[in-house]
Amino acid sequence: MRGAWSGDRPFIAVVTGAASGIGRALAEQLHGRGAELVLADLDPAVEGVAARLGGTAVSADVSDPEAMEQLAERSPRARFVCLNAGIVGPSVGAPWEVPAAEWDRVFAVNVAGVANGLRAFVPRLLAAGEPAHVLVTASLAGMAVFPGGGAYGPSKHAVTALVTHAAMALEGTPARIGMICPALVATGMSPLGADPADVAREALRAVDDGVFAVVPPEWRAAVVDQVAGVARGAPPAPPAPAG
Ligand SMILES: NC(=O)c1ccc[n+]([C@@H]2O[C@H](COP(=O)([O-])OP(=O)(O)OC[C@H]3O[C@@H](n4cnc5c(N)ncnc54)[C@H](O)[C@@H]3O)[C@@H](O)[C@H]2O)c1
Repeated sequence: MRGAWSGDRPFIAVVTGAASGIGRALAEQLHGRGAELVLADLDPAVEGVAARLGGTAVSADVSDPEAMEQLAERSPRARFVCLNAGIVGPSVGAPWEVPAAEWDRVFAVNVAGVANGLRAFVPRLLAAGEPAHVLVTASLAGMAVFPGGGAYGPSKHAVTALVTHAAMALEGTPARIGMICPALVATGMSPLGADPADVAREALRAVDDGVFAVVPPEWRAAVVDQVAGVARGAPPAPPAPAG
């Protein structure tokens, strides 16, 4: 990937969910690295972000395959694609407390949103035959299972599986895919957590370094322990950070 954005030539980057939080921070970091930006969101606030960063704003719902196809059509020279848009439903309790329509919407945005992005962009990236990268915003909730959280955690587990599958399928091509799996980040989604600018900076550094998945170091053992316990047949326990 490094060649596509290391400053030896300009590159075009697309970011979904760019009106706020991690997406906006990714757009800012990519702008700082000289990218020409195409910023997509449902929220009209994306227009202000695009204007500030000299990019193009696109109103698009990632859960709509046609909208993602149109987004890819209007950015044919994009070589860096951040599939970042995501939502938490209003119900954050046990699975049976989440209404059916809410399961559908959370999965439509978080999972189908990523699949729609891959379907729209990956064939074009492969046809271009140049170094390219897809960066997906998954979540720590897609690596470990936390009590509660409604449909969000299951949707993010689907996202991490999707990205892992896509990475295997892209092996041997000039296109790469990776994901970030942050714990809490202070955005429109959470009042608490890491600074989205730090998350975005670390995400791009990981792309530079060829790191497939960015998982906060203090959570890595908990992720492994939970899977190891379940693989042994032990009842699941909530994960906890080290230290
Ligand atoms: N904030 C956290 O603690 C945290 C932790 C781990 C992962 N994440 C993930 O980070 C990503 C970004 O979320 P954030 O924390 O920056 O929240 P945010 O609410 O600040 O930003 C999300 C953006 O996505 C947009 N969006 C929502 N649905 C959309 C749709 N259907 N089509 C297009 N755009 C849509 C929103 O309008 C918003 O601008 C999400 O995938 C989220 O699951 C967040």
